[in-house]
Amino acid sequence: MSGTEVICQEIEVDYMLLDRIINDDFGGNREAMIMMMQAIQHNYRFLPEPALKYLSQTIGVPLTKIYEVATFYASFSLEPKGKHIVQVCTGTACHLKGSYRMVEHICERKGMEPGKTSEDMLLTLETVNCVGACAVAPVVVMDEKYYPKADIKTVNEFLDGLNAQ
Ligand code: FES
Repeated sequence: MSGTEVICQEIEVDYMLLDRIINDDFGGNREAMIMMMQAIQHNYRFLPEPALKYLSQTIGVPLTKIYEVATFYASFSLEPKGKHIVQVCTGTACHLKGSYRMVEHICERKGMEPGKTSEDMLLTLETVNCVGACAVAPVVVMDEKYYPKADIKTVNEFLDGLNAQ
């Protein structure tokens, strides 16, 4: 069993918070299921299994259907994510401009793999396809902020900032 699975099983969800999301914010309307899932993910930075089970029971949608949606959309995560998210574009233009070097550098510096979260839960590193800014490749998106013509120095400044927090 991996560490992530252990975390998934141990996470405690706040059922009052879930009630607020499901019933107060969206009136328990199953049509709003995706928005409820987005709100849950916003609060936990991923979709904890107990929260999805509760959502399923409360709005009367089978859990398998909820998991189908959760795995269909790349923006949903079933694994805990770090406090900060770094997305390195590895689309063609960015790859040709050396974005893979930034991926390697982050992995080395944080002892992690692409698509994973660092052990201290501070950082999740994702590789993404074209983010639509090829003219300023390579592009990195860190905590939803775009960094055009990024390089290892750009990444290091961001990572140094995290360590100083
Ligand atoms: S390939 Fe990176 S922005 Fe298009």
